Amino acid sequence: MSEVKDVVEDPLFAQESEEGYRNPTEVKMSQIVLPCHANHRGELSVGQLLKWMDSTACLSAERHAGCSCMTASVDDIHFEHTIGVGKVVNIIAKVNRAFTSSMEVGILVTCEDLYTDSQWNVCHAFATFVARRTEAGKVQLKQMIPRTQTEQMEYSLAAERRRMRLIHAEIITDLLSSSTAQLGECQEYQDAVPAEQTRVESVELVLPPHANHQVSTFGGQIMAWMENVATIAASRLSKAHPTLRSIDMFHFRGPSHIGDRLVLKAIVNNAFKHSMEVGVCAEAYQGREPLRHINSAFMTFEVLDSDRKPRTLPRIRPEPVDGKRRYQEAIARKKIRLDRKYIMSCKQTEVPLSVPWDPSNQIYLSYNNVSALKLMDTRNNWVLATEKNKVRLYTLEENCVLCIKVETHVNVPAEQTFHLLSDLRRRKEWDQHYKECEMINEVDEEDALYRVATPRVSKGGKGTDFILLASRRKPCDTSDPYLIALRSVTLPTHPPTENFTRGEVLCAGFTIWEECSTVTKITYYNQATPGVLPYITTDIAGLSSSFYSAFSACSHFLEANKDSRDALSPSLRPPGLGSSL
Ligand code: COA
Ligand code: ADP
Repeated sequence: MSEVKDVVEDPLFAQESEEGYRNPTEVKMSQIVLPCHANHRGELSVGQLLKWMDSTACLSAERHAGCSCMTASVDDIHFEHTIGVGKVVNIIAKVNRAFTSSMEVGILVTCEDLYTDSQWNVCHAFATFVARRTEAGKVQLKQMIPRTQTEQMEYSLAAERRRMRLIHAEIITDLLSSSTAQLGECQEYQDAVPAEQTRVESVELVLPPHANHQVSTFGGQIMAWMENVATIAASRLSKAHPTLRSIDMFHFRGPSHIGDRLVLKAIVNNAFKHSMEVGVCAEAYQGREPLRHINSAFMTFEVLDSDRKPRTLPRIRPEPVDGKRRYQEAIARKKIRLDRKYIMSCKQTEVPLSVPWDPSNQIYLSYNNVSALKLMDTRNNWVLATEKNKVRLYTLEENCVLCIKVETHVNVPAEQTFHLLSDLRRRKEWDQHYKECEMINEVDEEDALYRVATPRVSKGGKGTDFILLASRRKPCDTSDPYLIALRSVTLPTHPPTENFTRGEVLCAGFTIWEECSTVTKITYYNQATPGVLPYITTDIAGLSSSFYSAFSACSHFLEANKDSRDALSPSLRPPGLGSSL
């Protein structure tokens, strides 16, 4: 087991010091890892851990819902460490946000060494639980009211994560079909192990101890059975004990009950140099009924040497047709996983500038873009630097990063404000820094790529240009703002040119709050990069008020176009508005 002793400092679960406040949905579980929970290497089996995580999260969801709940999905989980016998596993779960009948539950798993008094993180996961339908139909859950800054941040990000998980399956299917087409034939390796040798099929009878009080099989139990067959498949390839590193997002497609027979099938889809992907499929039946597809999961395993270094794995020879398809899809999923890890695991302040954009990382870049803006929006330690005619300029300095926020009100409805500010091509109508703006690619209804060029500042100098990903979101409910997030990306089709200096935007954008049907609060955020610093410091120091001029021009633009819908791109137009409008 790993002896790394990270101090637990996950900001998402940071102790809320506010007068001993404790989130009412928070549930904690602590377990000593006994030999009966462990594999023959004396490490806690991931299946057992998944059962504990699912139970803790389900109890938290039920505490909020006040009724029975079931696991709908679990987002990607990456296991940082294994846990040895004798250690204590601590699990904390709390509801981040309730939607209609579903809730996002955040789960943090840490490991504790009782003798050295040290703790370290094992994994962090998000699960979605759905309140069981009643005879009256779908349950309408009460809203979660965030009480602290951390809760506010999680509440806000939960809406963005929900958006991502609901389109996840569709996006992955599209990406797999487009990227596997480009991969061509499978590579042939001498001495490759036939995939067939790793195939596992195993049946389980669902008994009362596997089910909850509503006689449905526990999600955690199904995940544990899936992990068990996946481990056997991985061991058959490596002829050694494999370590589970990550599980891709999975969805419980339909329920299973006491008396069901669950058929679990697994096979190694592909083996790379140091990791392999095992796919698992779970199907249920009763008597002579046809099989019901309950779940599918993709798990990544490594094999560690005695010095904990990953061992080189044998290659795999896939079966014809389905085997070859899964082999290619595993390569595409590996790229998607790496992109996601790179883009999403970075702390916001460490996100590299200008990540290359491509369709396979679009969903993660868009998430990263929106969540960075939401994080700025939930900060409550902004300092008012200056104010002019009710336009306020705030600053926030933290970890050597300077952020600015400008806030004002306009007499224009929020939705119209959002539409007018969403199309960056119209920004030149009020912002003198936007000399040229071209839309490069309307990626989908909510995301677009633009090239923006700013004028030369000095005679003979160069202008600056930016390649921006603009992500726009309508509110999920009345507690969210409209939002337009901007960040730099790189595009091979638009390399830097001699005529412009390529500039970079780390995190910028607008949040738009409806104050009433006619009054809207607009907040503009910008995390300063060296390029913009000289412009804003004079404002902050009170030496100029260019922020005020820009915002009054923006207000005039919005008020002048209060009733116009001409400039809306078709995807931004509210339903019912024809293109001729
Ligand atoms: N991830 C997260 N949430 C999902 C989801 C997914 N992949 N698919 C659906 N949901 C959410 C919907 O967004 C909706 O939330 P909302 O009411 O807050 O808007 C909620 O689930 C219900 O969706 P609905 O369209 O009414 O139902 P559905 O036909 O999509 O069914 C389940 C969703 C989860 C109820 C259904 O797939 C199911 O019964 N799965 C098995 C659950 C189970 O047995 N779990 C393990 C044992 S506890
Ligand atoms: P897909 O075939 O598109 O990957 P499935 O949901 O059918 O999706 O299966 C998920 C994974 O389960 C597969 O990638 C494969 O690894 C594994 N699997 C599916 N069917 C079998 C089977 N008959 N035997 C062994 N493993 C299987």
